[in-house]
Amino acid sequence: MPAESHLSAASSDGPRHVALIMDGNGRWAEARGLPRAMGHREGVQALKRTVEAAPRLGIRCLTVFGFSTENWSRPAEEVSDLMGLVRSYVASDLKRLERAGVRVRVLGRRAGLPDDIIAIIDRAEATTAHNDKFLLQVAFNYGGRADIVDAARRHVDAVLAGRATGPLDEESLGLGLSTAGAPPVDVIVRTSGEHRLSNFLLWEAAYAELVYQDVLWPDYGAEGLADAVAQYRNRDRRFGGRAPLAEAAAPALAAG
Ligand code: FPP
Repeated sequence: MPAESHLSAASSDGPRHVALIMDGNGRWAEARGLPRAMGHREGVQALKRTVEAAPRLGIRCLTVFGFSTENWSRPAEEVSDLMGLVRSYVASDLKRLERAGVRVRVLGRRAGLPDDIIAIIDRAEATTAHNDKFLLQVAFNYGGRADIVDAARRHVDAVLAGRATGPLDEESLGLGLSTAGAPPVDVIVRTSGEHRLSNFLLWEAAYAELVYQDVLWPDYGAEGLADAVAQYRNRDRRFGGRAPLAEAAAPALAAG
């Protein structure tokens, strides 16, 4: 394969890895005169529908933003509701995920989380560690900046302990990220019409396609995901290279 094929790729055969910012639970609930907690609860149902639909679209990995390092600033009651979602999601879905060949991985800092949540996360990861059909990464107490800082610290610690000698470069830093080993992120989807990353997967976003959808997360599912995949497949990924069309057109343009 010529080198430039790596730099310019049609997206028609992907995406393998889709990351989702599941936004709009609060607005969904408020529009119905319901407490925000109901929006988050419906958000769990939307997550289940989306995880189930993903393999049918050829997706091998989903990364979802469940709780950010900034979400601690929400009222204590809402933080407690969001913690409760992890308890109920794992309690109601872990067996099914395990049987379906899904490996669950939780990204983010364990420190600061309630002990029972840490135990639940550890159990979910251990129970599904042998699965390799599909990877579900749940970012929980996760921040993109914090993850990069932690990766740099891991490298420094490894050097100080004599476990690593190499320089801090993109490869060695990438190995310390909580997403290490996952396929590259092809597309980051955000629901609810907001257009920003909110500290999600900052490193991994470097060449990801961004798709913004005007649907509130609790209304999401197979249809929304299929639409995001279709948008992705219409993109022309160049990874900083040049589009084949531009290359072919360049001499003609230069010639006048
Ligand atoms: C953003 O909506 C959503 C969250 C902060 C939480 C997302 C969590 C879920 C969808 C539940 C599933 C998660 C796990 C970990 C099982 P928002 O509250 O910011 O909505 P708003 O922008 O309309 O106020």
